[in-house]
This record gives sequence, structure tokens and C-alpha cells, in this order.
Amino acid sequence: MTLPRVVIERCQYLAECSEEPGAITRPFATPAMRCAQERVMEWMRDAGMTVSRDNIGNLRGRYDGAGAATLLLGSHIDSVRDAGKYDGPLGVVVAIAAVQRLHDAGRRLPFGVEVLAFADEEGLRFGAPYLGSRAFVGSFDTDYLERTDAGGVTMAEAIRAFGGDPTRIADDRWSGERPLGYVEVHIEQGPVLERLDIPLGVVSAIAGQSRFEITLTGEAGHAGTVPMAQRRDALVAAAAVVTGIDAIARTDERMVATVGKLEVDPGATNVIPGRVTLTLDVRHPADAQRAAATKAMLGWAQEVGQTRNVGVTVRPVSERAAVACSTHLTSMLGRAIGGDVVAIASGAGHDGVYMSEITDIAMLFVRCKGGISHNPAESVTTEDVAVAISALGRFLELLAEQ
Ligand code: GLV
Ligand code: MN
Ligand code: MN
Repeated sequence: MTLPRVVIERCQYLAECSEEPGAITRPFATPAMRCAQERVMEWMRDAGMTVSRDNIGNLRGRYDGAGAATLLLGSHIDSVRDAGKYDGPLGVVVAIAAVQRLHDAGRRLPFGVEVLAFADEEGLRFGAPYLGSRAFVGSFDTDYLERTDAGGVTMAEAIRAFGGDPTRIADDRWSGERPLGYVEVHIEQGPVLERLDIPLGVVSAIAGQSRFEITLTGEAGHAGTVPMAQRRDALVAAAAVVTGIDAIARTDERMVATVGKLEVDPGATNVIPGRVTLTLDVRHPADAQRAAATKAMLGWAQEVGQTRNVGVTVRPVSERAAVACSTHLTSMLGRAIGGDVVAIASGAGHDGVYMSEITDIAMLFVRCKGGISHNPAESVTTEDVAVAISALGRFLELLAEQ
């Protein structure tokens, strides 16, 4: 079987590692994650890498080079709920394929190559994204260990059950000399490449992102007896908050804001909602605009709270500035692709956001069907994957020539 075909089959094979039958849902530190890791570890070993797993649960496969320097490649193998097959796994599996090609040819580069398979990027289980890359660069926030999942399990307990030691996460931070870079292959998750009819593009920057949890506290009551004028319905307030956030986001065409999760308490047909917790995710390529919009959105939530006599508390979850990709590595990726190269700003977050704290980052985007992602309909072609493997291989050779 050809290597591109192997990559597609491996992404399909990883899709079987899920906690929901018939769908792909692979949260951090779960049996579904363990299933995926066992497969990835085997592929890393087959490609001549030595493999280790750190305390947060990231896999690190190392293919030694002639010198001590290291180039980092990789992506994440966790997923959102009811995900597609390629967001994350494609980058890991293509990186392994590029190393496989070196190994099959008996080729050692002047630098080592480390393939990282991050244990959490999406933040599905604990609502906090980038756990894997944060741990890798030494920016893991230990307060996160007390966060609980939907079943009340703390992150510390989940890490322990998965075989890691939550008290030793800081020990795993990258401690070698500054890596040569971190390069991630990822599906585009947008429509640009398809519209231009080209298989690959490079990334110019990753948009900044702010996440919050907003809790609205009203008063639960009997759906049949409390008159409308006396209600403090937290869900009606939440509806106003959500539509207001949407309206603010629509004032700037480069901004996006999403309320993706709503928890309604107590959540019964005949009970007035007493409390609602909602998530807010705001992104913009310019940090100042994101900050201003976020302030307006949270201000609007307070205003709704006052009008409806509902308490409003805001918990910041994470905040990251926009991150530029390295012009040096990106132009090298461009040369590896050849011809006219398209640069795309990524609205999606990627592990490069945190990896930029320890090294230069660059990303290669692969065309995906209909620009669809975070959806089971995610799709890439074997032909495009072939072009991506070749481009990554040429990039390694260009870096070796330096
Ligand atoms: C990750 O996919 C994100 O952009 O939230
Ligand atoms: Mn994603
Ligand atoms: Mn991703």
C-alpha cells in the first residue's frame, strides 16, 4: 500500500477509538484515548522512533539525527464531540509517514525529529484547551487539576487513572536546547484552498482567543404557578445574552464568537430554569479588537442580568494572544511546496499557540472538502495527502541543507 493510502487508513483506524459508538468522540485521558495511543505508539516504533509518554499523556516519538538539535512535528489526537477523522490525527500520522520515509531509506538528518501526539488540544473533557502543549512548554496551570469533568472526576484523578503523575507535570517541560522549530500539518478547516483549487497552503498566524464561562442565576419555580411578571428565568436571560453576543460579533467581519455549550439547571419541563452556565469563545486576528469585543460582550451580560434581576458571574477560562508563524520556517515550507504559495490566517486554534513559547512555529494546511471541520463530514483526498507528505519531506531536506 502507498504511504498516502496508509495515512488515510490510519486516520480511519483511529476513528474507531471513540467513546461513542458510531461517532468519533475521543476526550483526554479516556479508554478511547488509550486505544488511539496504542496504535500511534506502534506506528512510531515501526518508523524507527523511540517512544515515551509524559505525565499529562502526550506521546513523544524520537528519530535520532546526527546532531543534538531537534525539530518538533506533530498535532493532537483528542477530538471534539462527534468529530471528523482528520482534525489532529492527520498531522500526527503525516509526520510519522515523513519519518517512515527517512527510516526506510536509512537516512539520518543532521538533527533529530520528534513527533508529538498531544493528549488534549480541544479541551472537550475539562473545558480547558491545549493541556498537552501547555504541559510540553511548561505553561500548565496547576489550578486546572481541580477542574471536574461531567461525571465529577477531577483532572488530577483522570491523569492518575491514565498512568500519569499530576504532581510531576512540570518535570516534563521541554528542557533541551531551543528546538529548530515546531511544524504542524493540519486540515485547513476552511474553504480557501478548495476555492483556489490547490492542495496545500501555509499559515501566516493563528488568531487570538478568549474563553469564559458565564453563570446566570435566577430562581427556579413552578412552571404552572409563577406568573410571568414575577419570574427570574435564567434561561430567558441566557437567550438574551447569546443573541447580544452574536450581534456584537457581527459588527466586525473578522471576529467570531460562539456560545457552544449551555447547562440548564435544574433542566425539567415543568420547572423555571434557576441557573444557566454557558461557554463563550471569542476570536479575532487582532488582539485589541478581541479585547474590546470581549469587554462589550461581558458588559452586555451584566446589563441583561440587571434588567432581568438575574445574577451574573464570569469565570475566565483561557486567553491567548494571536501568534504569528515564523517567516523563516514558513518560507521554507513554501519552497518545499513550490510555485505560488497561499498564506492563510487560521481562525482555529492549534498547539503551535503554546509551542511558540519555546520555539518558532509553522503550519502546513491541507485542503478539506467543503471547508468542513468539527463535523463527521471532514474529508481529505489521498492525492492531497500525498502532496503533503512530499512537501514535509522536502521541508526536512531543505532544513538539513542549512
Ligand atoms: C480547536 O480546534 C479550536 O480552534 O478550538
Ligand atoms: Mn479542532
Ligand atoms: Mn486541530
